[in-house]
Amino acid sequence: MTGAVCPGSFDPVTVGHLDVITRAAAQFDEIVVTVMINKNKRGLFSVDERIELLGESTSQLGNVRIASWQGLLVDYARELGFTAIVKGLRGAIDFDYELQMAQMNRKLTGVDTLFFPANPAHSFLSSSLVKEVATYGGDVEDMVPPAVHAKLLARIAERNAEA
Ligand SMILES: Nc1ncnc2c1ncn2[C@@H]1O[C@H](COP(=O)(O)OP(=O)(O)OP(=O)(O)O)[C@@H](O)[C@H]1O
Ligand SMILES: [Mg+2]
Repeated sequence: MTGAVCPGSFDPVTVGHLDVITRAAAQFDEIVVTVMINKNKRGLFSVDERIELLGESTSQLGNVRIASWQGLLVDYARELGFTAIVKGLRGAIDFDYELQMAQMNRKLTGVDTLFFPANPAHSFLSSSLVKEVATYGGDVEDMVPPAVHAKLLARIAERNAEA
């Protein structure tokens, strides 16, 4: 059995994430998409909501499950008995940060990181930018999975009403 963790904030999951998850699922027996909990950062969606949206968006992938983790990702990988982390690389900014993280994670536990080059059609996508564009009324329908789109617009409308 080969398995890998696929970590991120997924606030919310985008089609860029889904592309990487789908490709990773074709290379490993099991992928555990892991919502990393950051107590200092309040998201647009709660961790439970992000897990639910990821679950709905990956329901067609039989070897993908969704989890969350607080702490060192490598500890979770070890708990699962996995020796790999998978990540997407959109460009040089991702690379500079991810290389350092990957080297640190390998030094800590021997868990290695495998990178999937972003689909060029998605390499400009991030959750933050999608949220920003949607906040100002831009069309993001083809940037997020169908399960996410309506909930994203509803949440942004709630936030805009509060502000
Ligand atoms: N469009 C994309 N194509 C390929 N990989 C991506 C894409 N967006 C994010 N990723 C990868 O997904 C992982 C998790 O990323 P994360 O949850 O931080 O997403 P993000 O879109 O960068 O969100 P944020 O804007 O909140 O940082 C990272 O490894 C990141 O490189
Ligand atoms: Mg990011």
